[in-house]
Amino acid sequence: MTAPGRDPAAAEMRVVEEPRELQRLAVSVRMSGRSIGLVPTMGALHEGHLSLIRRARSTDDFVIVSIFVNPAQFGPNEDLDRYPRTLERDLEACRSCGVDAVFVPTASALYPEGFQTYVEVGPLAARLCGASRPGHFRGVATICLKLFNLSQPARAYFGLKDYQQYRVVERMVRDFDLPLELVPMPIVREPDGLAMSSRNSYLSPAERSAATVIFRSLEEARRSCREGERDPRQLAALVRGAIEKEPLARVDYVEAVDPLTLEPAVGLPVLIAAAVFIGGTRLIDNVLLEEPETAAP
Ligand code: PAJ
Repeated sequence: MTAPGRDPAAAEMRVVEEPRELQRLAVSVRMSGRSIGLVPTMGALHEGHLSLIRRARSTDDFVIVSIFVNPAQFGPNEDLDRYPRTLERDLEACRSCGVDAVFVPTASALYPEGFQTYVEVGPLAARLCGASRPGHFRGVATICLKLFNLSQPARAYFGLKDYQQYRVVERMVRDFDLPLELVPMPIVREPDGLAMSSRNSYLSPAERSAATVIFRSLEEARRSCREGERDPRQLAALVRGAIEKEPLARVDYVEAVDPLTLEPAVGLPVLIAAAVFIGGTRLIDNVLLEEPETAAP
């Protein structure tokens, strides 16, 4: 038995622009009996993305990374135009992780004239980021469905930094009987705790240092929970209060929700999810507090 991983004799990494070409490639890989792992991204790759890619590399026979800044998930006043685009560096990072194919479509190839069919997402998508960013998850679900159809993955890898996104896509996979498994992956952080994000590059030095307040406040909730606080509203209020002390931060939301339904939590386990503007940059993060926390040292 050889460990799963890239065949050293495999051809060089393919860079595919055409959706149909990716689909043909994926179908032929599947026909040859190999599993495909898909990592959907919007590029500006960082260690968070690379952790997903490495996991795919160690699990699946053929790894596809998509890099596409999806217009359908951005609101009219959001950062679509200035979203960081670092394609050459991204391709190099993919190459060094042993990726087999990178999909870099144009917007007009994925949304040609006449495109009009979108995934209608349900209540899971209505709260938290769905409330602040109307239409966002409709755009996310639609692009993910398209990427799944084009890449034919056995597994698709998603980070839990975007916790709600994971739940919305997971729900779609079940509701549409999609033949793939979603693999949730832990949040990768900077040494000072800030969750890695392509949007961190927008932060000025002062904002970058202020941004650590998000993680520090979530950790305070974890500590408080460990010390016996069980009321989800109290835990959320603690996080909100701590963030509001930072002058460069403005809370978009801090909510304590049931990790499965994303409805307001009544007890543990509870997901404390936060979206915070640091200057003009909106960042998200979350922490999952579970019962065994009480037993933790
Ligand atoms: P993007 O923000 O580029 O993220 C791509 C994937 O990387 C997502 O699954 C996200 O949760 C994961 N990720 C980002 N930062 C992470 C971190 N610090 N730790 C662990 N994982 C992290 O999410 C999107 O793109 C898009 O919405 C997409 C799913 C590609 C659809 O357009």
